[in-house]
Amino acid sequence: MRRCTSLVVKLELLLLLFLFVLTTSSSEGDFEQCESTVKKWASSSLDTEVKEDNHLLRDLLFFLHIPRTGGRTYFHCFLKKLYKSSLECPRSYDKLRFNPRKSDCRLLVTHDDYSMMSKLTKEKTSVVTIFRNPIDRVFSTYEFSIEVAARFLVHPNLTSALAIDRRLRSRTKGVSTLNIWPWKYLVPWMREDLFKRRDAKKLKGLIEITSNDSYNMEDVVMPLHQYINDPTAVDIIHNGATFQIAGLTNNSYLSASHEVRHCVLKFRTLGQHVLDIAKKRLDDMLYVGLTENHEESASMFADVVGAQVISQFTPPIVLERNSVDHSSSLEDFGPDSHHDGSNSSLPEPSKSYPIEKVTTGKLIKAYQSCITSLRKTQTERRISSLKRIFPANFTKEARLQVPQELLQEIASLNSLDMELYTYAKGIFLNQHKRVAQVKDAIDKPGKVSQKAARELKISNSETYVEMPESELKISYGDISWKVLLLITSTLLLLVFVLLYVNAKGRTPKVKL
Ligand SMILES: *[C@@H]1O[C@H](CO)[C@@H](O)[C@H](O)[C@H]1NC(C)=O
Ligand SMILES: *[C@@H]1O[C@H](CO)[C@@H](O)[C@H](O)[C@H]1NC(C)=O
Ligand SMILES: *[C@@H]1O[C@H](CO)[C@@H](O)[C@H](O)[C@H]1NC(C)=O
Ligand SMILES: *[C@@H]1O[C@H](CO)[C@@H](O)[C@H](O)[C@H]1NC(C)=O
Ligand SMILES: *[C@@H]1O[C@H](CO)[C@@H](O)[C@H](O)[C@H]1NC(C)=O
Repeated sequence: MRRCTSLVVKLELLLLLFLFVLTTSSSEGDFEQCESTVKKWASSSLDTEVKEDNHLLRDLLFFLHIPRTGGRTYFHCFLKKLYKSSLECPRSYDKLRFNPRKSDCRLLVTHDDYSMMSKLTKEKTSVVTIFRNPIDRVFSTYEFSIEVAARFLVHPNLTSALAIDRRLRSRTKGVSTLNIWPWKYLVPWMREDLFKRRDAKKLKGLIEITSNDSYNMEDVVMPLHQYINDPTAVDIIHNGATFQIAGLTNNSYLSASHEVRHCVLKFRTLGQHVLDIAKKRLDDMLYVGLTENHEESASMFADVVGAQVISQFTPPIVLERNSVDHSSSLEDFGPDSHHDGSNSSLPEPSKSYPIEKVTTGKLIKAYQSCITSLRKTQTERRISSLKRIFPANFTKEARLQVPQELLQEIASLNSLDMELYTYAKGIFLNQHKRVAQVKDAIDKPGKVSQKAARELKISNSETYVEMPESELKISYGDISWKVLLLITSTLLLLVFVLLYVNAKGRTPKVKL
């Protein structure tokens, strides 16, 4: 009898050992398979195209908008002023399932990831993006998904909230936050959760809320530590910037992307391959901004992108959108600015729409008044929405109370983004230097000969001709403005080319 049991025990042990070997070897096999999947993806993602000058704006501007980086203000307050609506790709903020090759749009702004490029002509597309500190981005994502979800708390219960939402959305043509990735997942998730907590609170007859920490107030809202560890957050939020630039988000166009993402989520070391691709893509972008350095980023955006858009289009900037949003901000671009009346040699502007000479200086000015009004509206909405989850309120003071360990946890969950953010800061710094050098060169235009200017053929410069004279008289005195503009733009190009060649030789992978 004893013999028998010990035999059984031995057999069981053997079986366990066998199972153990089996599972470890199969997960090793998993790893190997994943590694080969990720590596295959990485090598196929490397650019094979001949690199032209990345600092020149190409036909299509693709604004890869990483959620919660402040990109919307650039969209509303810069891009909508630079591109008339007919140049905007259809439903850019909607769930974007259109064929851009078929339309001749010039501006694409979307939360869709880099896999979008598979639908675009790469040689004709310039990509820009904005980066933000990953920890702040996670906080902002948490707060915004709750803010939008809390608006539904006006309804007595989830069922009626959903019914009314469905009715409203079928009637309005505008883009709802709930149609846009990632909000289309994050908001319904929080909405359901808020109603559940409210119902439970009612059921318990709970009146007093004991917690005074808004980020950890489980009676009214999902605590931050719970939110960041949920599979939804793991899939959609963490390392979101890296995944978006790599084209590997949950929203990717390419079916192969999902397997790669799952592998990277499962085996963290494989993230390095993704990071390498994301860095290369950042290197190739026309512009990289930083949410934190807002002022500087904005003026650089005007210098790097705005100036080229202005030069790309004839006739100059058309502002026809006063009915859409933030009409107050359009005042700076009002149709009559010919104060000095020196309109003699100018081509007659078309009467059908107001034409305004736009300079980067004016662009910045208009931008600033635009964001002031945009932010005011946003703050009002936020305050009124957060009232519904009182006493939780996401203020600066509440934020300061968040324990250090939680911040560290967020950083660790976003390790790829943390590294890419550091890298982006390096790019930003270089970009800053480059712009400063170009501006410096423009201040001393005598250094470039007219001959050199003529030899460099730039199609862009011709469109400058459309700029009204009065503008230039103010800034440049009596020099013939056509010549001046030709020189200036040639110089710009020359400096860009030189810097680019230089930069390529040195490959400055700046790290902060
Ligand atoms: C939800 O609220 C609506 C409107 O007050 C009510 O008619 C409905 O019965 C409620 N549903 C549930 C499940 O409580
Ligand atoms: C919340 O309570 C803790 C201790 O109970 C206290 O130290 C902290 O100052 C309070 N915070 C606020 C915002 O009242
Ligand atoms: C994206 O994430 C959401 C939420 O986790 C999920 O419902 C959806 O199926 C995911 N999509 C893909 C393609 O994985
Ligand atoms: C400017 O143009 C308008 C319309 O062509 C004309 O009536 C006006 O006299 C011009 N002003 C000057 C100062 O040339
Ligand atoms: C939340 O905080 C903001 C800013 O500190 C404040 O204006 C607002 O009144 C607060 N909301 C509630 C409901 O206390």
